Amino acid sequence: MRVKVFGAGSIGNHLSHAARRLGWSVDLCDVDAAALRRAKEEIYPGRYGAWDDAIKLFDVGSAPQGNYDLIVIGTPPESHIDLALEAIREAPRAVLVEKPLCPPHLDHAQELFELSAERGVPVFCGYDHVVGQASEHIAEILRAGVVGQVVTIDVEFREHWGGIFAAHPWLAGPGDSYLGHSARGGGASGEHSHALNLWQHFANLVGAGRVVEVSAALDYVEDDSVAYDRLCLLNLTTESGLSGRVVQDVVTNPPRKWGRIQGADGFVEWHCGYQPGCDAVIKGDPSGPTWEHMIQKTRPDDFILELRHVVAALASEPQRSPITLERGLDTMLVVAAAHRSAREKRAVHIDYAKGYTLAALVA
Ligand SMILES: NC(=O)c1ccc[n+]([C@@H]2O[C@H](COP(=O)([O-])OP(=O)(O)OC[C@H]3O[C@@H](n4cnc5c(N)ncnc54)[C@H](O)[C@@H]3O)[C@@H](O)[C@H]2O)c1
Repeated sequence: MRVKVFGAGSIGNHLSHAARRLGWSVDLCDVDAAALRRAKEEIYPGRYGAWDDAIKLFDVGSAPQGNYDLIVIGTPPESHIDLALEAIREAPRAVLVEKPLCPPHLDHAQELFELSAERGVPVFCGYDHVVGQASEHIAEILRAGVVGQVVTIDVEFREHWGGIFAAHPWLAGPGDSYLGHSARGGGASGEHSHALNLWQHFANLVGAGRVVEVSAALDYVEDDSVAYDRLCLLNLTTESGLSGRVVQDVVTNPPRKWGRIQGADGFVEWHCGYQPGCDAVIKGDPSGPTWEHMIQKTRPDDFILELRHVVAALASEPQRSPITLERGLDTMLVVAAAHRSAREKRAVHIDYAKGYTLAALVA
């Protein structure tokens, strides 16, 4: 596989490393020469032991075009759609765009959806947790039907974002990047949208369909340099009438990344970082937990698994992957609905027939 990665920051390094571990060739490019230097001298050797000379570094303007199997967009959310549209025109076998797919304004989202279909270039969205081992176990347990009729789903990604800034020592704080701006894809609603996406994934697994109603409360922080939500509380209802809840925040410390599917006969829980270096799946019935399964892994392992998933999906039916463009855009529609719901203090409905535009949000 030949891969081009846009963005030599945190995720660009993770995905370049994952691709190299799979023996792929990697061209890594950025608009910022300092970012390329940092990747080579600090981030990559700091995380993975040593720089890998097989990775070729390019300023975006001089990066090769065409002839790639996979193009990865690992830049801030506001550039994702433009870069993805250009990437599709390079005709790779697939494009992988980081989460969140775009800012909540959804500009050009429908255009991206249509171009991907028209050119037959599958686009994946980097919600890696749904293709992780813990999620796979949950899918098996749900398929086995042991929890009975599913009554509700809860997912929380509550994590103080100190860890993110520790991984970006060149940023002085949230105001220095999209992270401090919900409208640019940051804040708890965008940065921790893994939780919402996982909720939607579980709802899909149990046949509950897509989210059609969103009732949200967001706690916004605003000053001269930032405008972001630090707490994003979502009450969701799906096409089948299933109701549940998502909590995303950038304040909880120590963090909690957790999900629970509650059925009439039992429950199953998803835990990220249950113990150091371990995710977990816990199954139980009204008497309490009856089965606990630990999954040892590192964060770099998550991205190797994600790239393996992309290759496997390309070899079978990419449209059946849980990380399709459609799934990433479904998540962004709910994020957009959440901001509107919080602003107008009422429930917002989603009409999918209107496409991936703000016109799909109906009060
Ligand atoms: N899947 C995950 O778990 C995960 C983890 C980390 C980050 N992310 C996502 O990845 C994206 C990037 O986050 P990050 O932490 O790596 O950011 P970052 O700031 O560390 O790196 C982004 C890089 O993109 C570069 N860039 C900006 N515009 C560009 C362009 N047009 N072409 C090429 N390079 C460009 C910047 O110069 C910067 O070096 C975000 O959407 C974030 O949410 C996902």
